[in-house]
Amino acid sequence: LAGARASSAGAWGPARPFRPGTPALDEFPFEVWGRLAARHWRRPPAGLLGYGDPAGHLPLREAVATYLGTARAVRCGPEQVIVTAGAQQALDLAARLLVDPGDQVWIEDPGYLGARAALSGAGARLVPVPVDEEGLDVSAGAARAPRARLVYVSPSHQYPLGVTMSLARRLQLLEWAERAGAWILEDDYDSEYRYAGRPLAAMQGLDRGGRVIYLGTFSKVLFPALRLGYVVVPEGLSCAFANARGVLSRFSPSVDQAVLAEFIEEGHFARHIRRTRSLYAARQAALVKAVRSELAGALEVSPDEAGIHLVGWLKEGADDGAASSAAARLGVDAQPLSSFTLEHRRRPGLVLGYAGYDERQLRAAARRLAAALKQ
Ligand SMILES: Cc1ncc(COP(=O)(O)O)c(C=O)c1O
Repeated sequence: LAGARASSAGAWGPARPFRPGTPALDEFPFEVWGRLAARHWRRPPAGLLGYGDPAGHLPLREAVATYLGTARAVRCGPEQVIVTAGAQQALDLAARLLVDPGDQVWIEDPGYLGARAALSGAGARLVPVPVDEEGLDVSAGAARAPRARLVYVSPSHQYPLGVTMSLARRLQLLEWAERAGAWILEDDYDSEYRYAGRPLAAMQGLDRGGRVIYLGTFSKVLFPALRLGYVVVPEGLSCAFANARGVLSRFSPSVDQAVLAEFIEEGHFARHIRRTRSLYAARQAALVKAVRSELAGALEVSPDEAGIHLVGWLKEGADDGAASSAAARLGVDAQPLSSFTLEHRRRPGLVLGYAGYDERQLRAAARRLAAALKQ
């Protein structure tokens, strides 16, 4: 997280073009949300005003369990779902509960800075494991740290490279984890957005040994400031996670949870996903077109079957940190791939989020990025 801040000026303010992870905020159905929220606030039941269940508001946990079963083939009951303040709190909880200081933990390299920060904050010794076209290289991890306690992966759409982990690798990782007695932290942060190809079921649904801790977030599908996400844990861990969640920050705001539960139950959530899925597919195509016309020869992009960001590849030998700083000075938030990398250096690149920007904004940002790269 600190890396992201250092590498892109203004990372925590209003979104600037290409910031990854920003959804289309102006497409959110605020009138529906406002109506549901007004209904709850007009006469809030006492149960929503006192201390709530640290594990989360039961109707929301039920709605999440049903949604994940249908959409992601996750196998769980509501008692296994713990509502968190976004995926970040789920990462923090898992790190604190499952890792002891000094334990080895595999992390994808390049990989998500939020996961790296939470795990090293819990005292983990991070073991960077390379990612290839099939996802995390399980054999490399097993050779390097056979007794690791935990593995962090984003198999649906690896962050930031965008690779989907193959079924063979998923099975290899599950088998290794069961043998090694290691935990798998499966981050399914943007799985709602798949535009082509068959979605692979979540690893959690393939897990027979109870090794997978699955986490998801409403930050990409709805909006980040909602600060609601969830972690799905093996049955034996529900109590520990719920108790620890209570210790960290009691519980998530109950009325927001109740509004979200209704938003899902009444079908608005599914409708919003369907609508934004086709919008983002069009925005991705617009980004590819804009880069190919404005940045030809300087930045290479290929369409991706999933997600809400692309990697733009710079020329071999280019300094992506310097490119990112030049872009930031021109108001474009293109994060350097090297800032997500610990050991496994690869071609330099820039991470480009596109979901929150329309075709005109994407083209204008591509032009500014072209000017920055010339510098
Ligand atoms: C890989 C990855 N995991 C998880 C998250 C979700 O973060 P949160 O739910 O805390 O907003 C993000 C957001 O940027 C992400 O990129």
